[in-house]
Amino acid sequence: MTDTFAAIVARRYSRRDLLLAAAATAPALLLPGVLAATAPDEGGPALTFQPIAGSADDVVRVPPGYRADVLLRWGDPLFPGAPALDPRGIAAGALMQPGAAARQRRQFGDNCDAIAFFPLTGDARRGLLCVNHEYTNDHLMFPGRREMGPGGNVRAEWSRRHPEAIRVAMAAHGVSVVEIELVGGTWRTRPGSPFTRRITADTPMEIHGPARGHRLLRTRDDPSGTRVLGTFANCSAGRTPWGTFLTSEENFQDYFGGLQALAAVPGTDPALLALHRRFPMHDGGSFHGWENLHARFRLEREPHEALRYGWMVEIDPREPGAPGRKRTALGRCMHESAACTTTRDDRAAVYLGDDDVFEYVYKYVSRGRIEPARGAANGDLLDDGVLLVARFDADGTGEWLPLVHGEGPLTAVNGFADAGEVAIKARLAADRVGATPMDRPEDIAIHAPSGRVYVALTKNDERTAEARRGRLIGREVEQGVDAANPRPANTRGHIVEIVEDDDDAGARRFRWNLFLLPGDPAAADARFLSSPADLRPGRLASADTYYAGYAGPGQPAPMACPDNLGFDPAGHLWMVTDGDQPRAHNNGAFVVPVTGAERGYVRQFMSGPKGAEVAGCEFTPDGETLFLSVQHPGEGGTLARPQSHWPDGGDLPPRASVVAIRRQGGGRIGG
Ligand code: FEO
Ligand code: CA
Ligand code: CA
Ligand code: CA
Repeated sequence: MTDTFAAIVARRYSRRDLLLAAAATAPALLLPGVLAATAPDEGGPALTFQPIAGSADDVVRVPPGYRADVLLRWGDPLFPGAPALDPRGIAAGALMQPGAAARQRRQFGDNCDAIAFFPLTGDARRGLLCVNHEYTNDHLMFPGRREMGPGGNVRAEWSRRHPEAIRVAMAAHGVSVVEIELVGGTWRTRPGSPFTRRITADTPMEIHGPARGHRLLRTRDDPSGTRVLGTFANCSAGRTPWGTFLTSEENFQDYFGGLQALAAVPGTDPALLALHRRFPMHDGGSFHGWENLHARFRLEREPHEALRYGWMVEIDPREPGAPGRKRTALGRCMHESAACTTTRDDRAAVYLGDDDVFEYVYKYVSRGRIEPARGAANGDLLDDGVLLVARFDADGTGEWLPLVHGEGPLTAVNGFADAGEVAIKARLAADRVGATPMDRPEDIAIHAPSGRVYVALTKNDERTAEARRGRLIGREVEQGVDAANPRPANTRGHIVEIVEDDDDAGARRFRWNLFLLPGDPAAADARFLSSPADLRPGRLASADTYYAGYAGPGQPAPMACPDNLGFDPAGHLWMVTDGDQPRAHNNGAFVVPVTGAERGYVRQFMSGPKGAEVAGCEFTPDGETLFLSVQHPGEGGTLARPQSHWPDGGDLPPRASVVAIRRQGGGRIGG
């Protein structure tokens, strides 16, 4: 804990010193829509590893001199005496047999996503790993289960016949807290640790903040609107300055069925329907079919249950008995990032992405200040503050627009009766104040020395070249390209760089800059651009690339669809991908300097196995270990015809796993 706060203080002072130095030298010239690509320093220690080429092989590939060890696989036992999942039994239906769910509750969950490391010792060789388990690929777990997709009838019948499968799936979701230690250069788990914890889709949690007890959060099972069962669809995450884990509930809509049936119930409030329709909720059966076992997932029976998901959840990894807390002041959406930092005056700031096409980038700023002596009790700062949403203007500036009840259009007359309702209807509130619809905001990372903020927009193939008003996800939206989302049919995503006014996370105004338009810089049918002047909307084709103005020597790596982001202690930006890659490569991990002569020079560091996305992206404080999640290896295959056998090999089915990457003999990753 002390280390965490010492680090904050050190960072803040080094950032101020850097800014003073930079102010004397940096040209302040702005091109319209483009911030001059100057950097506040000359870059951190050089990246000296030998970059790898992309790969389509069913392996985890890392550079020469590095090792990627599988640390935690789906089904690995976490508690003493817990059995291990035997992958040989999966195709025969072992996970549909009685007892399978009880076993899964004591094992590592499926489809690991975000990772956060919390040191327990000063040398950080022992610590707690918090890992999200975003979802399950049910057709790769249960024979006879159809692939997730539209249409629920067959699935409903199947789900009722195989209740244990639903229980297993629910137990494979959520979060794991696992103690690990570094022994002889290799990380291993400590199964007897008192900190070990599995949080699943039915672990009791508390609702905090302005929506606590709100009439829209009350259900049959919880008339108080203060307690909720579980968290699921946990995608990205973050660490708070006071040492807790913030995990995001993203695709919660895929777990609820019956929107059409709810609409047919006489007396259903049209405003409630509009709120559900502001998400891609399912008219008929859900993707996961849980509503066939638990009525709370049926909208027509429990119209408010879905409103109790889509939140940021705070978990204290050092207090296994403390309940998870849904922090409603951070708004309700399809949450991704929880990039935490502190403002100049020591308030908490959290940058948040809402991952859907044409959704928004948010920022939360607490009212109170962080008090180090209060430790995890600082979590209540997440209950009282201002949620803001970003508008990116074409002149390269932008504004954080407050979503405050009673201000501007956010009044009772417009359907916002109180602060709780603004939080529950954050998307509708953001529509009203004129936020900029973005190309799927995923993770956000903060370059600590400068305070610059990097936002991954993963992709949006519904972005159009011409201006066009479209009706999408319950509202009318401008789909045409704009300065901050300049590529039509944006299948490869981009990264935006934000410079807060006065370098203060508490600022209401900012400047912004396109940092990366990835793709294939060597593509014959596209331009590799290095001048910011070429980035104006209307001039770009979807395959044109721009790597922060980098013009050589050498060519940056092909990549697409940045998802999770992270900075290493040396200040280099790491990006992991989720989506179709150029040259039919697998997803991977990439690194790019954000300052100095190599700003924009992307190198590939890791390639994942077939069908996987790479997630996580967490460094130990010494920068010597990089934890990555290999999520959904073999997605696209079936149980009968697996596309991947990673990591167990042979003819075994694939298993999502966390890998720990280190240099042979030790040393800084990338250096
Ligand atoms: Fe779960 Fe937005 O990725
Ligand atoms: Ca994911
Ligand atoms: Ca993600
Ligand atoms: Ca993604």
